[in-house]
Amino acid sequence: MIDLRSDTVTRPSKEMLEAMVSARVGDDVFHDDPTVIMLEEKAAALLGKEAALFCPSGTMTNQIAVNVHTRPGDEVICHKHSHVYYYEGGAMMRNSGVSVCLLEGEHGQINAEDVKAHINPEADIHRPVTSLVEVENTMNKGGGSVYKFDTLEEIAGVCRENKLKYHLDGARLFNALAETGETAEKYGKLFDSVSICLSKGLGAPIGSLIIGDKTFIRRARRVRKAFGGAMRQVGYLAAAGIYALDHNIIRLKEDHDKARHIGKVLESLPYVENVMPCETNILIFRLGGKYSEKDFLARLKEQDIHAMPLGKQVVRFVTHLDFTDSMLIKVEEALKSL
Ligand SMILES: Cc1ncc(COP(=O)(O)O)c(C=O)c1O
Repeated sequence: MIDLRSDTVTRPSKEMLEAMVSARVGDDVFHDDPTVIMLEEKAAALLGKEAALFCPSGTMTNQIAVNVHTRPGDEVICHKHSHVYYYEGGAMMRNSGVSVCLLEGEHGQINAEDVKAHINPEADIHRPVTSLVEVENTMNKGGGSVYKFDTLEEIAGVCRENKLKYHLDGARLFNALAETGETAEKYGKLFDSVSICLSKGLGAPIGSLIIGDKTFIRRARRVRKAFGGAMRQVGYLAAAGIYALDHNIIRLKEDHDKARHIGKVLESLPYVENVMPCETNILIFRLGGKYSEKDFLARLKEQDIHAMPLGKQVVRFVTHLDFTDSMLIKVEEALKSL
């Protein structure tokens, strides 16, 4: 089976599994699981921040950030296609009682000017209080697009001037860094909180971290408990995360190269109308009239190749560490045969 539905479909390698079974564990709710503590310290150091908290999912780390940074009735500024709003089951509204101010922007990206124009005046009691700005890098529904650091810095300036908190959904931050060559620390300095995922491009079976200063993480720990995300002998899973950070960041560019290669093939095919610029491991393209997205995916499925529809005539491929060179050749052949 060739699975291009997401980079979350990877299975832990033998080496990762060995690291997991030999982990030293404790009860993480009592904060005495040594492997979890090691992972949290490692992630915090990587981002140059004071502390981190291990959580089951990227949805939980994003939603904890929203909950800690806001009060019920506040407003969050983010892109209309941001994962935190579009793909998390209405959790911001449901769990934190906030409203959203949804911005437009090419490839899922927002900018400082737009953020500034949408901050509600503090003195106007009719409007919700704007308290948080959220950005996603890389941007999933923006085709894995990578923000220019300058843009993120300009938004940070607006947040500082207006006393707004600034959260980064960095589920695929390391994919962005693999392209720009920047350090994670540079991003840690800019944001009040950063969420990173271990279970996407980095190949761990589960896990995300929310990273921030000590006060933020102390509050986040309480919210994680309240959301039902405090876990016990979870060092077995944290060990997979440590392995992922140590071994799988370095190879992310291979996934990007494969995605770009498929992008080039798609561009040459008559039944493809257009391909979004491919910056990392996510490839989004629009089919012309010959196939609907359903027909196209069904044809691929006959060859045991699986991908995701992303709307009418739109399909997404995501490359990852279980997508091998020989699979790439098969996908190219299959696409050309349609
Ligand atoms: C950009 C982004 N943020 C957050 C998440 C949520 O992660 P999880 O599936 O672990 O809840 C995803 C999941 O694909 C994502 O793509």
